[in-house]
Amino acid sequence: MDAFVIEGGRRLEGRLRINGSKNSALPIMAAVLLTDEPVTLRDVPDLSDIRNMVRLLGELGVMIARETDNRGQPVFALHAIDQSPSHARYEIVRTMRASICVLGPMLARRGKARVSLPGGCAIGQRPVDLHLRGLEALGARITLDGGDIVAEAPGGRLRGATLFLGGANGSTVLGTANVMSAATLARGTTVIECAACEPEIVDLANMLNAMGARIEGAGSPRITVRGVESLGGVDHAVIPDRIEAGTLMCAAAITEGDLTLDNCPLDALMAATDTLGAIGVAVDPIGSGDDPMRRTCRVTRPGGLRPAQITTQPHPGFPTDLQAQFMALLCLAQGNSVITEKIFPDRFLHVAELQRMGASLIRQNATVVATGVPGLTGAPVMASDLRASAGLVIAGLAARGETTINRVYHIDRGYEKLEDRLASVGASIRRQDIPAEPVAAG
Ligand code: EPU
Repeated sequence: MDAFVIEGGRRLEGRLRINGSKNSALPIMAAVLLTDEPVTLRDVPDLSDIRNMVRLLGELGVMIARETDNRGQPVFALHAIDQSPSHARYEIVRTMRASICVLGPMLARRGKARVSLPGGCAIGQRPVDLHLRGLEALGARITLDGGDIVAEAPGGRLRGATLFLGGANGSTVLGTANVMSAATLARGTTVIECAACEPEIVDLANMLNAMGARIEGAGSPRITVRGVESLGGVDHAVIPDRIEAGTLMCAAAITEGDLTLDNCPLDALMAATDTLGAIGVAVDPIGSGDDPMRRTCRVTRPGGLRPAQITTQPHPGFPTDLQAQFMALLCLAQGNSVITEKIFPDRFLHVAELQRMGASLIRQNATVVATGVPGLTGAPVMASDLRASAGLVIAGLAARGETTINRVYHIDRGYEKLEDRLASVGASIRRQDIPAEPVAAG
């Protein structure tokens, strides 16, 4: 099993381009099920989650080729050539929860869908009740059978409705993607109240509109979708990954480095860059840049780190997907920081691992108090989920001595060649195959 071995204490300096967004690409790829025409996608990152989505779409009748465009850039060519399959099997769904994204598009275009119910998850409970309620509001008949969600549109077509998509923790990103995608082909108008405002929803809506959909309000809590008869093909570039960008900002900050990030979605990172500014990390845009989602910026840290209070929230609040990376950073701030997780209250698997590296952290329910220490020390630690692992990489970059992060397949789900990218700007990090040991239990 692959591990990362990091020799900490190297300053990061240089230039990196932010890759396309995983969380935008996944629902966008699923939306290909809505059309019979070919779709071209650019800037899709090369990640294991994307490869899982390719496998899933392949089983659902989509022909997929990875090609190179005339500028030498990789592009995905996707074409749903067989509209008859409707079963997303457990064997694939269990490898990736985002498989649930195929439910809405398949139901809307094929009139039926059978999608295995995603199981448990390391970051806590992740129900899909809101996805199902939203689709039921559009007229779908939904039952559970043998661990599968079985959904059917009476008469083969969904119908528009006004619906509320909020849950106890606020809006749902993939739930909004599912319902919004499904509503594009429904008969009549759909209004989604308490829709997720994440930039990935805006990206999906932009793509769907370019395919002929009629969506208004994406990026706000109320989305209106006027249903159309059919959708056409499209050539779409996925937005840059705000979480990869935020992670690299933390890497620059913790090593007192100097990183220039190209293709950086600054417009989608306000909560993170505001916090960085408050704790003493400068994120300076370079040049004017026409597109606020594709800027160049320079990340530096002129002095010591100040503590902060962070509460994760739906966008535009502080993203839960950057909580672990910021916690690693705040372990070295001068004073007490308070980090509260409001999206996934159990998303703290990195806490015990950071403690192994000398961090002073106290957790009470969904809040962690981090008391800054002068330094971290390298240690063998275990990656447990994607972003927790990224937090451990950040900590390892600053720790004295060697940090070995086991089970980096979690990182490979969401960061393309992270070790090569960090090494290219000065980190001492290498991938190593380490035999799996039995895990302690009980
Ligand atoms: N929720 C419900 N019922 C539902 C759906 C969600 O109660 O039917 C709750 C969740 O339990 C959670 C909250 O609503 O408390 C928000 O969850 P959401 O549905 O927004 O999460 P998601 O759409 O399943 C996406 C990202 C996650 C990211 C969250 C929150 C993708 C593929 N995943 O998940 O990304 O943490 O939004 O921003 O887009 C990651 O990339 O590491 C990752 C986990």
